[in-house]
Amino acid sequence: MLMTERDRLAEEIRSLAARLGQDRTSLIPILLEVKRKYHTIDSYAMQVIADLLGIHPVEVNSVVSFYAFLGDHRQGKFVIRLCRTISCDMQGKSRVKRQLENDLGIGFGETTPDGKFTLEYANCMGMCDQGPAMLVNDRIYTRVTPEKVHEILEECRRVFGVHAAETKEVVFK
Ligand code: FES
Repeated sequence: MLMTERDRLAEEIRSLAARLGQDRTSLIPILLEVKRKYHTIDSYAMQVIADLLGIHPVEVNSVVSFYAFLGDHRQGKFVIRLCRTISCDMQGKSRVKRQLENDLGIGFGETTPDGKFTLEYANCMGMCDQGPAMLVNDRIYTRVTPEKVHEILEECRRVFGVHAAETKEVVFK
């Protein structure tokens, strides 16, 4: 029997629930895993999760839409979050922003057409004395300069390698 993408997603969510728990306390851990792997949490995934945890899909949707790290919009494999809070702002955030936009050809809130990079703003990351600060997926970069932006993006591109298009999951080394 052929498995569709939806079957695969449902199967994956079932195994996540088996591992992480099948009550409402497992909701966020499951959502984080789905987002990490699929870069989006669509309405079908929310329905499957709701059914498994015995809660209403509206509850799942409200959690997804509340947390910026979740969200039902599709994101790139690398989500770059630049701190826009005052200390980083005063330490050159705008120059870093311009460099990111120039290098990637997109604005903040957008994803590159190849689905590799998303640019977003974030608020204070607790690295105010080492700004401008920036997160790439779960990895933090401090004292980011326009020159450092090139290196960071090159590092991301190297992670893709020749088989990049075939992999759904990208993990920083
Ligand atoms: S203001 Fe940017 S990390 Fe605190």
